[in-house]
Amino acid sequence: MKAYEITAFGIDHLKIVEREIPQPGKGEVLLKMKAASLNYRDYLMVEGKYNPKLKLPVIPLSDGVGEIIETGAGAIKFKKGERVSPIFAPSWIAGSPTIQDMRQTLGGPLDGTLCEYMVVHESALVSVPEHLSDAEAATLPCAALTAWSALFVYGNCRPGDTVVVLGTGGVSVFALQFAKMAGAQVIVTSSSNEKLAKMKEFGADHLINYKEKPEWAKEIRRITNMSGADYIIEVGGAGTLEQSLKAVRMEGTISLIGILAGSSKDLNLLPVLMQNIKVQGILVGSRQAFEQMNQAIAAHKLRPLVDSIYPFAEAAQAWRHLASQKHAGKICITIG
Ligand SMILES: NC(=O)c1ccc[n+]([C@@H]2O[C@H](COP(=O)([O-])OP(=O)(O)OC[C@H]3O[C@@H](n4cnc5c(N)ncnc54)[C@H](OP(=O)(O)O)[C@@H]3O)[C@@H](O)[C@H]2O)c1
Repeated sequence: MKAYEITAFGIDHLKIVEREIPQPGKGEVLLKMKAASLNYRDYLMVEGKYNPKLKLPVIPLSDGVGEIIETGAGAIKFKKGERVSPIFAPSWIAGSPTIQDMRQTLGGPLDGTLCEYMVVHESALVSVPEHLSDAEAATLPCAALTAWSALFVYGNCRPGDTVVVLGTGGVSVFALQFAKMAGAQVIVTSSSNEKLAKMKEFGADHLINYKEKPEWAKEIRRITNMSGADYIIEVGGAGTLEQSLKAVRMEGTISLIGILAGSSKDLNLLPVLMQNIKVQGILVGSRQAFEQMNQAIAAHKLRPLVDSIYPFAEAAQAWRHLASQKHAGKICITIG
């Protein structure tokens, strides 16, 4: 079978290689992969910035969807022909993860989804919503589940809440869609007026260009009659946290998800205690949360925003597009 490998760090070192088609063992199934999608993590992984000690070669990407074409002994949960997605952390089934769960993740250090065939234990798979195309379904395992965990597993997003999403990348657009689904008011920030116009089509109630308004927290205060937002989907990290602390309401939640704007900076933490602010770290989610999210996606016929789809042979272009940050939503790759 054909598979991509990170053979050395850097996008130019992504190589198509030949590997043996793996055979399913006890409780495992063989998937013919249909599509995969990229997360910012996959860019960091390939560049050697996520884990400079990552053992190479490794098949990249945590997210994908495949069709079951063979079942191993005792694998009874799914049938041949079903479309499924492997989960990000194969041993995190429900409840709190262990450190070991979070160390064994797809696309590094474990082989990922950018390959023609994959063997996965049935306990590390979820069914995908039927109304989604392969590419759409491939966007769910990391970005969508992270947004879902922030709002509904660690958070309790309710109708009438105000949710702020930073930027228009994969996690943020899912957070916009899920928050609207829950009846919340959503404020989107972006560096691009064109992308903001697109977010309006996806239901955003208020739009802020953070380049034109670097003190965007003031806008959020104005929009919320000075009370502040209930949830901030914080993908910027150190570079945006100061504004997030000014934008969140008393006892509101900042879901700390990404570090697009840096991971460290001098910061005044006083507002956290003076205003009972919850700063909640989020790391993707469990299989149980994924299954619940998929039920909601199916019930609401929600469609992910797919920015672009690249053929398998041009996967490196997908990485370059992600690196350019010109996308909104998700970048996908078709397989086979
Ligand atoms: N903790 C987890 O479990 C988890 C899961 C998934 C992702 N993440 C992290 O979350 C972050 C986003 O991931 P992603 O895959 O959604 O990325 P992505 O699709 O590449 O999104 C990037 C977008 O973020 C926006 N952005 C960049 N710098 C910003 C800033 N200073 N302020 C506001 N927005 C900014 C930009 O939107 P505009 O062009 O509209 O400005 C950019 O297009 C990354 O740091 C990633 O590693 C963490």
